[in-house]
Amino acid sequence: MSRNDEQVIIFDSTLRDAEQSPGASLSVNEKLEVAQQLARLGVDIIEAGFPVSSPGQFEAVQLISRQVQGPVIAGLARTIAKDIDAAARALNSAPRWRIHTFTSTSSVHMEHMLRMSPSEVLKKAVEAIRLACTFTPDVEFSAQDATRSEITFLREMVQASIEAGATTINIPDTVGYAIPHSYGEMIADLKKNVPGIDRIIISTHCHNDLGLATANSLSGVVNGARQIECTINGLGERAGNASLEECVMAIKTRKDVFGVYTNIKTTEIYRTSQLVSRLMGFDVQANKAIVGANAFAHESGIHVDGMLKNRSTYEIMTPESVGVTGSKMVLGRHSGRHGFKVRCVDLGFELNDDQVNRAYEKFLELADKKKEVFDEDIITLLDDEMPSRKGIFHLDYLQCSAGTGTVPSATVRIMRGEEVLQEAAWGDGPVDAAYNAISKATGLKPDLENYSIRAVTGGTEALAEAVVKIRHEGRIFVGRGASTDIIEASAKAYINAINHMLARAANQKEKNNNGSY
Ligand code: KIV
Ligand code: ZN
Repeated sequence: MSRNDEQVIIFDSTLRDAEQSPGASLSVNEKLEVAQQLARLGVDIIEAGFPVSSPGQFEAVQLISRQVQGPVIAGLARTIAKDIDAAARALNSAPRWRIHTFTSTSSVHMEHMLRMSPSEVLKKAVEAIRLACTFTPDVEFSAQDATRSEITFLREMVQASIEAGATTINIPDTVGYAIPHSYGEMIADLKKNVPGIDRIIISTHCHNDLGLATANSLSGVVNGARQIECTINGLGERAGNASLEECVMAIKTRKDVFGVYTNIKTTEIYRTSQLVSRLMGFDVQANKAIVGANAFAHESGIHVDGMLKNRSTYEIMTPESVGVTGSKMVLGRHSGRHGFKVRCVDLGFELNDDQVNRAYEKFLELADKKKEVFDEDIITLLDDEMPSRKGIFHLDYLQCSAGTGTVPSATVRIMRGEEVLQEAAWGDGPVDAAYNAISKATGLKPDLENYSIRAVTGGTEALAEAVVKIRHEGRIFVGRGASTDIIEASAKAYINAINHMLARAANQKEKNNNGSY
């Protein structure tokens, strides 16, 4: 990777660290879609997954390695030979790839989790790095829980890793315990005291348990780190990771302080944030820095007055610079297929002609009901059309009856490939009846954890989007569905969640049958 000392490498872990968080699991095709958008965003490295952990993870890393152009593709591995081997096999078709191996260096992890002495941990790490170097020259080593480690052991470990061939050394604040000045000091200490450290890149990987992940990462940069590991919308284990958009925009907006740059195409930030939010099922909080709905909204009289006189009075960066256009493009019944297609491309959807045609038919239906069709409506319609949304079950037909004095009932026809599954059921209300009919047809009745419905853009004739969370064997799966009919939107969301659940179950089953993973 060509770089100079002013470049901060952006290592995105949305598909690995964030994907591990409860409810965030994506299908293999959804991961590919996110990876393609991360490439458009210009991240330097995509951590695509943890290949040894399941066949689904292996397949996703392999697919991304084969199909995503531009970034280096990385795969995670413990300091265990079979992990390194699986990572190499999953990654080796990428033009540029990295093995990211990790072990813990804090006493609490070594004693209670690894149950190994420090010298055993160090020996295994060195062996793993040497093995990884036989597959690729690009090897990263992470000292998990570095910020709670003895500094003398950490120095020893970092030095041994460099001597073994690691080219990037990551200093994770795994439990989000560090504060900016102590984290910065740790990076500065390693830079000063570890021989050979100037030959490698020091990386940050900060969790957000105290809300300090971005600040800690930036403090790392000030003290010599040149890679930030981060995720879109700050998603990740527990309170999440450093947020990509915050780190990148801080570096860009305060170049006077940091004196460094990233390769991120910042105008792609908002679109990436929205895509990840939709697919992972985590709404972006309204006041989230950079990408929240209110991040660029001005309400109070004094602020609005200042903005009207000169935007720089209350704006340190423009919404346009992160891809929030402000202009809400409105299409209507007479917009025409060509205008619709151009808008799809502008909104970041790469659909083939058949998919555009199907989406256009849905757009016309919507435009008939709703005079003005907004970008958000189109995004929701297009989302349904994306090939990555297709799963085992597909809703073909739904009929519901409900009203005062009647027992709500529903009939559904669901397709599983060519097979037709048709059932009827009643329930406490029309959504409950539809869910009972779907459960009878599919033979699956996961626990419904959460259900919500919202109008995508206002008005009673608006497009509705339902989000459903189901629980199965302790894991949460999210599904989304959209329609102008709220019962249909709800049914689609439920089926989408079931499809996510089945995709994971299929991966686990394969794993159990295949000891080599
Ligand atoms: O938080 C952490 O320590 C990690 C490592 C695997 C890098 O995610
Ligand atoms: Zn982490």
